[in-house]
Amino acid sequence: MKFLLATDLDNTLVGDDVATYTLNERIQAQRDRFCLVYATGRSHASTRDLIAEKHLLEPDYLIAGVGSEIYHKGILDPVWAESLSQNWQRDAIETITQQFSLLKPQSSREQNPWKISFTIDSTPATPVTLQRLEQELSKTQLSWQIIFSSNRDLDILPKNSNKGKALTYLQTRLGMEAEATVVCGDSGNDIGMFEQKVCGVIVANAQPELLKWHQEWGQKHHYLAQSPYAWGMLEGLQFFWGIES
Ligand code: GLC
Ligand code: MG
Repeated sequence: MKFLLATDLDNTLVGDDVATYTLNERIQAQRDRFCLVYATGRSHASTRDLIAEKHLLEPDYLIAGVGSEIYHKGILDPVWAESLSQNWQRDAIETITQQFSLLKPQSSREQNPWKISFTIDSTPATPVTLQRLEQELSKTQLSWQIIFSSNRDLDILPKNSNKGKALTYLQTRLGMEAEATVVCGDSGNDIGMFEQKVCGVIVANAQPELLKWHQEWGQKHHYLAQSPYAWGMLEGLQFFWGIES
């Protein structure tokens, strides 16, 4: 059986160097049995830097920018890009966001044609700001969704995007079953993956928004690990696939 392993990077696969190394070794020992997918909020360039810095294995596919881009051997998937472009008007959405002074644009490196990203400080006014932003966007007929992670990062993406939808696109294309797919994550931008037909591992260091989601929506194919970072992933791989950790 071939396994599809889709993992977030920051604070999931990466966060404890010994754990990352141990997991890499496990996968490397049976590399042909895995289709390895990194699903990250980072841009392609920033992901390449992290792969080099942390000596990560070369993935088969890279879901970058919270699912706004899919790369295979460094080439952007044009079919995915085209499907996100429908009814997505980046400029119009950006103009709406300019009314909100609490929204601070992230660096230009983290923006792309299908992703607008901000940081937002946690203040008493933050929940109201988020609500008003949603109201303003709802008044348009445009395709959009808001993803809030780690109490700080706010991404606006096309409605049919996010890490999970990108993963399902790959899963279908590769003909992989739900039982053969494991996703791993720690924060709000990973929720999209747990919502798909997959097995899921939530690492022990997960952010409150993901733990809250798990409390509300978690099922038995969602495994809450007792260990953090890649140690939690190893625990989950043993749980679902019997891979020794
Ligand atoms: C990563 C990205 C950032 C995004 C965040 C949450 O940190 O670099 O752009 O906002 O993930 O999705
Ligand atoms: Mg993360």
